[in-house]
Amino acid sequence: MPGGKFITFEGGDGTGKSTQIALFLEYLQREGIEYIFTREPGGTAISERIRQILLDPACGEMADMTEVLLYAAARAQLARELILPARNDGKLVVCDRWVDSSIVYQGMAKEMMDLLAGQEEAVRVVNGFATVGMEPDVTILLDLDPAEALGRAQGPDGSLDRIESRGEDYHRAVRESYLALAEQEARIRVVDAAGSAEAVHARVLAAVLSATELVS
Ligand code: TMP
Repeated sequence: MPGGKFITFEGGDGTGKSTQIALFLEYLQREGIEYIFTREPGGTAISERIRQILLDPACGEMADMTEVLLYAAARAQLARELILPARNDGKLVVCDRWVDSSIVYQGMAKEMMDLLAGQEEAVRVVNGFATVGMEPDVTILLDLDPAEALGRAQGPDGSLDRIESRGEDYHRAVRESYLALAEQEARIRVVDAAGSAEAVHARVLAAVLSATELVS
């Protein structure tokens, strides 16, 4: 893919992804490196509306395939409206989650939990179509034991969104799936997300810098 770099952050719920992305973006600002930041599901007006449906605890009866297609629909819009044009302009794009999230949450972890054969393959096909096969140059995977992570994910009132509230077994399957995916994909760098935010940030930076030249 010609043009700018595409860096994504992945990880289970409560692994400190938002904090680490904020610290990484501060680093880019300090270094005077221009970037565009966006998040999934969301990042465009249409995709943010799809996000509301996806995360609404009142949508508990959503069929598995509806969920796959809604994430892919939000992503298709984000790819066309923002990421593809930015990359074609040579810009650095940083995105909170990308196709790996669907492969793991809707694909591998679902197959593991519900014995839904073929789900991962369906997710890959749908998303290849949605994103015209656009892959990140480097992906930072924040890895943390779900027992610790889910405590962090809870809101101040103890609330969890539709996906977060799926229980610890599902989140264990998410973690295992991410680690298995990282074994298959050289672009995915696993970062230990235990410890202070500053310590994890140092690991994130080392992983990004060893994987890509930020300024080409
Ligand atoms: P966030 O907490 O990182 O904002 O992500 C929102 C939730 O959506 C999180 O529980 C992970 C989930 N998710 C999927 O299940 N599949 C996807 O493709 C994406 C992008 C997110």
